[in-house]
Amino acid sequence: MLRHFLLFLLKINKFPYKLALNLCVLASGSGTNLKAILNAAKQRKISSKVVLVISNNSKSGALKTASKNKITSFHLSQKQFNSEEEFTSKLLSLFKKHKVDMILLAGYMKMLSPQIIRKFRNRIINIHPALLPAFGGKGMYGINVHEAVLKAGVKTTGATVHFVDEVYDNGAIVIQKEVPVKPGDDAEKLRKRVLRTEHRLYPQAIRLFEEKKVSLRNNKVFIRTPK
Ligand code: GRF
Repeated sequence: MLRHFLLFLLKINKFPYKLALNLCVLASGSGTNLKAILNAAKQRKISSKVVLVISNNSKSGALKTASKNKITSFHLSQKQFNSEEEFTSKLLSLFKKHKVDMILLAGYMKMLSPQIIRKFRNRIINIHPALLPAFGGKGMYGINVHEAVLKAGVKTTGATVHFVDEVYDNGAIVIQKEVPVKPGDDAEKLRKRVLRTEHRLYPQAIRLFEEKKVSLRNNKVFIRTPK
């Protein structure tokens, strides 16, 4: 009886509790966003748990952070497999084994296979160090993004959390936060300033999913605000 009532509440989106999601973080670089997510969990700003970390770079800071925090982690790169299909099925089997609800890309320098994107449709998000759709797409990663921002002379840049689909930096935007471009900035200064904003933004995005505030209509995200 109680179970039926709870299921009913869930269905009508009135369940009063936050969802605690099992997160998998995919990262290739220093892994500071992973650290920020883990800190947010420690400070109970989010209820979700990072259950799995995967990197295609054996030297990634994300793998070190994962092992320090006793999180299951793997260095998995396509080079270790005979084909893209084998690599994909290894990833899918790990997601299944660890009951992954959402995949978070944090500087993951490899396009996910269409099979993974299909299987986790609307459950994969990425953080990008600019205000998409500006300064996104192929080649727009790492320091390149900030160099392009400075070259264009825009006065405001920022960070974007967006859904991942089959096209680079194309999925619906979940949340964004502006960051000023200051006179005298070089790409490195700007990268660091944007990164500090990313570290707050990614946990905020996770929280929106936990609170079931994110809905998608016509490839646009709507955030439910309290009445
Ligand atoms: C971040 O700037 C993120 O926006 C981009 O890659 C970088 C990853 O940084 N996609 P880190 O590895 O989390 O420090």
